[in-house]
Amino acid sequence: MFKNKVIWITGASSGIGKALAIDFSNRGAHLILSSRNQEQLNAVKVLCESNLQTENSILVLPYDAVKEDAIPQLVEQAKNFKGKIDYLINNAGISQRSGVLETEMSTYRKLFDIDVLAPIALTKAVLPIMIKQNSGHIAITSSVAGKLGVPFRTGYCAAKHAVMGFFDALRTEVFQYNIKVSTITPGYIRTNISKNAVKGDGSSFGKVDASIEGGMDVAECAKVIIKGLEKDKPEIPVGIGLEMKLLWLKRLFPKLVFKIMNGQYKKIAKSNQLDV
Ligand SMILES: NC(=O)c1ccc[n+]([C@@H]2O[C@H](COP(=O)([O-])OP(=O)(O)OC[C@H]3O[C@@H](n4cnc5c(N)ncnc54)[C@H](OP(=O)(O)O)[C@@H]3O)[C@@H](O)[C@H]2O)c1
Repeated sequence: MFKNKVIWITGASSGIGKALAIDFSNRGAHLILSSRNQEQLNAVKVLCESNLQTENSILVLPYDAVKEDAIPQLVEQAKNFKGKIDYLINNAGISQRSGVLETEMSTYRKLFDIDVLAPIALTKAVLPIMIKQNSGHIAITSSVAGKLGVPFRTGYCAAKHAVMGFFDALRTEVFQYNIKVSTITPGYIRTNISKNAVKGDGSSFGKVDASIEGGMDVAECAKVIIKGLEKDKPEIPVGIGLEMKLLWLKRLFPKLVFKIMNGQYKKIAKSNQLDV
């Protein structure tokens, strides 16, 4: 299914993006790996290369999600790699660990720049290529936080809800070009997400949460995502914790879920090692 497909993954230097790259390389895909840390991307490339089947290959294409001006050249380079882009996986992102009152507006803007506007800009730039091909698949790593309101993540939840709206609407516009859109909604997955999360002043949180520590193994997560993409699933939930049950519970009993989340305030603060 993925053999000789060109798959562009953002946030490929770490966590979910890295695990996706390793798994896709096993399946004979050509990969384009993007994020800021070129050294880490090269290390992921080396890991993937040990899996490569003869024809597939890997392009490291570093980028900073907030540098919108660089996108046209970046997309040109991605297209020139193999002359097509089959999958764009908008996975790069940052989370948040701070209460609303101590979160500066600049931090909310940072979350929206990286988690919302960057994947929108990249998607808009790649779409003409996919429309010309009359084929393609675009994915966005949203979150359970794109479906539920979680304490200490007001900006992250707002950003992940925003991408759910954008990519759901996009699906309705691009199906006519044979382009699929998948939103991925992970629960807690064991990655560096909480370490790299922003505090109220925009600096790094720097700690691993208990909830992340107890989350799903990242290689398992990649497998579930790839299975979902293989089946052209519009929405791909992935996780092992109670948070996954809240997804469907909210559809049936929203008031109950709001109550549960109120009750979670102190528990989440403790798990996130935050003072309240
Ligand atoms: N882990 C979870 O529990 C969880 C749950 C729900 C959703 N998610 C989502 O999953 C996605 C991947 O996160 P992860 O868990 O794998 O965390 P991670 O290990 O911290 O990886 C985040 C990735 O995003 C990249 N990134 C961050 N800022 C960037 C920027 N300005 N420009 C370009 N790339 C940037 C990082 O690369 P560089 O540092 O090299 O730039 C890194 O590769 C995120 O969108 C996150 O919101 C994660």
